[in-house]
Amino acid sequence: MIRFKTLGQFIIEKQAEFPFAKGELSRLLRDIGIAAKVVNREVNKAGLADILGDYGACNIQGEEQKKLDVFADEQFIDALSQGGECCVVASEEHDEYIKINTAVSTNAKYIVCIDPLDGSSNIDVNVSIGTIFSIYRRESIDKPISASDILQKGINQVAAGYIVYGASTMMVYTTGKGVNGFTLDPSIGEFCLSHPQMTINKEGRMYSINEGNYVHFPQGVKNYIKYCQEEDVTTNRPYSSRYIGSMVADIHRNLLKGGIFLYPATAAYPNGKLRLMYECNPLAFIVEQAGGKASNGHARIMEINPTELHQRTPIFIGNKNMVEQLETMLAEET
Ligand code: AHG
Ligand code: MN
Ligand code: MN
Ligand code: MN
Repeated sequence: MIRFKTLGQFIIEKQAEFPFAKGELSRLLRDIGIAAKVVNREVNKAGLADILGDYGACNIQGEEQKKLDVFADEQFIDALSQGGECCVVASEEHDEYIKINTAVSTNAKYIVCIDPLDGSSNIDVNVSIGTIFSIYRRESIDKPISASDILQKGINQVAAGYIVYGASTMMVYTTGKGVNGFTLDPSIGEFCLSHPQMTINKEGRMYSINEGNYVHFPQGVKNYIKYCQEEDVTTNRPYSSRYIGSMVADIHRNLLKGGIFLYPATAAYPNGKLRLMYECNPLAFIVEQAGGKASNGHARIMEINPTELHQRTPIFIGNKNMVEQLETMLAEET
């Protein structure tokens, strides 16, 4: 007897709440779950599966692709192509978006933006990594697919989620009605509901930032880091500093424990390092649905009007009060 509700059972149950939906989004989430289980299997035996190390090519980001970047990319594109509900995949690992031309998909109405493997620098050192996905509805099935179907504001997302391949493997997603977390039970190969209706821990006491870039941070960010480190018992400071280097893992921890994640503009990344379409928007949707906030320092991440598929943005995401304190300090410096 399975004690916990499986992802499939949960989706069917929630499906009943959308009487007019015909199950396409549910099948799309199922397809993503299938690919996640395949990636998880390789992650769990990475050291034995010749899946570590460099793939031997660079992606459009100018990054040295890891074997697992490419493997994960292939698995998610394959599952989405087979599933028949997705008409376009836009992946970190491909310069352009990919039209899915399998017969069933021609009328498919969903677009998936995906970071197949997030935190690649952590793969070879056995530290948590993840996958991030964002789902949009195409503007119209009566007109050919064009860039405007993909370059939509984050507020248009119909669903967003991540998988974190950590001590346990979890899938966390939202369809705009709260956030739910599922833990993979390897003994039955099912994601089971373990974290219903997740909300960000109100007692935010952690800040996550790569302080190695300190000299290049805007003055307001430097002032905020100093604020985090000051002694003040009334506001639970100093906060703890925690930085894993995989955005999904840092955000997942901050969701559960409370905190703020900051990736400001730096010398190497004058527009910020993290990508709007398949890192910042999906995680912003989830954190907002969990009661938090996601900003580029002065505007809501999900209101940014995308112009490029791989465009980057500074991001400050987590507890509302912490993000607003940061925004105040940035505004004071200008
Ligand atoms: P990806 O592995 O998908 O390219 O993303 C890596 C990102 C993100 O996961 C993480 O928060 C950030 O890079 C870490 O950057 P730094 O190493 O510059 O701190
Ligand atoms: Mn990358
Ligand atoms: Mn990433
Ligand atoms: Mn990636």
